[in-house]
Amino acid sequence: MSDIIVDLNDRSYKIIVENGAINSFSNYLMHNASVKNLVIISHELLMKNYGLKLKNNLENSGYEVIEIILPDGDDSKDLKIYNEIITKMIDSNCDRTSVVIALGGGVVGDISGFVASSFMRGIKYYQVPTTLLAMVDSSIGGKTGLNFSKKKNIVGSIYQPVSVVVDPDLLNTLPFSEKVSGLGEIIKYGAIKDRGFLNNLYEWVKDIENFPYTKAIERCCQIKAEIVTKDENETDLRRILNFGHTIGHALESHLGYKMIKHGEAVSLGMKCSAWISHKKGLLNTEDYNLLIETINRLPLPKISALDPEKIMHYINFDKKNENGILNFILLNGLGKAIVTQDVSSFEILESIKVLHEY
Ligand SMILES: NC(=O)c1ccc[n+]([C@@H]2O[C@H](COP(=O)([O-])OP(=O)(O)OC[C@H]3O[C@@H](n4cnc5c(N)ncnc54)[C@H](O)[C@@H]3O)[C@@H](O)[C@H]2O)c1
Ligand SMILES: [Zn+2]
Repeated sequence: MSDIIVDLNDRSYKIIVENGAINSFSNYLMHNASVKNLVIISHELLMKNYGLKLKNNLENSGYEVIEIILPDGDDSKDLKIYNEIITKMIDSNCDRTSVVIALGGGVVGDISGFVASSFMRGIKYYQVPTTLLAMVDSSIGGKTGLNFSKKKNIVGSIYQPVSVVVDPDLLNTLPFSEKVSGLGEIIKYGAIKDRGFLNNLYEWVKDIENFPYTKAIERCCQIKAEIVTKDENETDLRRILNFGHTIGHALESHLGYKMIKHGEAVSLGMKCSAWISHKKGLLNTEDYNLLIETINRLPLPKISALDPEKIMHYINFDKKNENGILNFILLNGLGKAIVTQDVSSFEILESIKVLHEY
């Protein structure tokens, strides 16, 4: 398997995608005799399933290992938990040579990355993603963050890891609904960058339990690495990763985060964005149908009673945070995403009605 590189000069790093990679994690550590200790940040269940074995292996390789367990859920991306992690690191005599290992989904990855970026002005960290969403998206690109006062990801930094170690075997214990959510993000990569990959996905999503996860994760990581390499700070190109997200985020806010998972909302948002692209004559009927049918093969939650005006309220709120400009992502052909400001509220409202038609 060839290495995937996020090429950012002196901050370049490798993404390793390999079944069983967690068992040989110490091979991927930069071997630096001055490393004082390793800090594994994870959730209780993940620590039990995977972290303890990892800890044993690292201890056998001569490292001192500290465990920090976070409660499950997005509420862990919080200043109080940040405070507890830093306190534990200070109490455990961590210093500039300590290294963080984020073993978890996007929640663990985001807060651990922020801890690493800020502890003693920045220490090294590894991402070991355990959800499908984290394997193809949140662990790559260095975006770290916390929620503050009910606002998501309002505190944070862009701080790249030393490496991302993806072991698709960890998905064996991932709940089915989390897999479906991650598949939404996987379909997104085909839609924005690779029509051939989307064609494969159309077949593969028929049987989610036997989906070729390793192959698909590799392709997504390659695409994300390529995009982040060209635009680390999201000035333009990186925005195409937000395909389906403008309406997706609004659906999450409208329905409530407990009612719909992120990737499920993004899947519905992609349907709306594809519909607008098709209406504007940018996406032909054959490609539109291919994307819609691929998404429809996912067992997504049934959406009733959507209030388009409320959804518009959330979209306008997002717009306010972007200087009043709505950068919308459309498809100028399948596999070719574009950023445009030429999408009206009327088109968005009409596209949302389409969700009730399936
Ligand atoms: N930094 C970025 O670029 C970026 C991008 C997208 C999303 N995010 C953030 O990611 C977060 C969502 O991440 P997520 O979807 O991975 O959710 P998550 O981290 O909350 O994980 C979802 C659930 O799956 C469980 N779990 C994780 N791995 C498991 C495994 N292998 N087996 C069994 N259970 C497992 C977790 O304990 C949790 O209950 C959000 O906070 C979002 O803001 C960040
Ligand atoms: Zn997303």
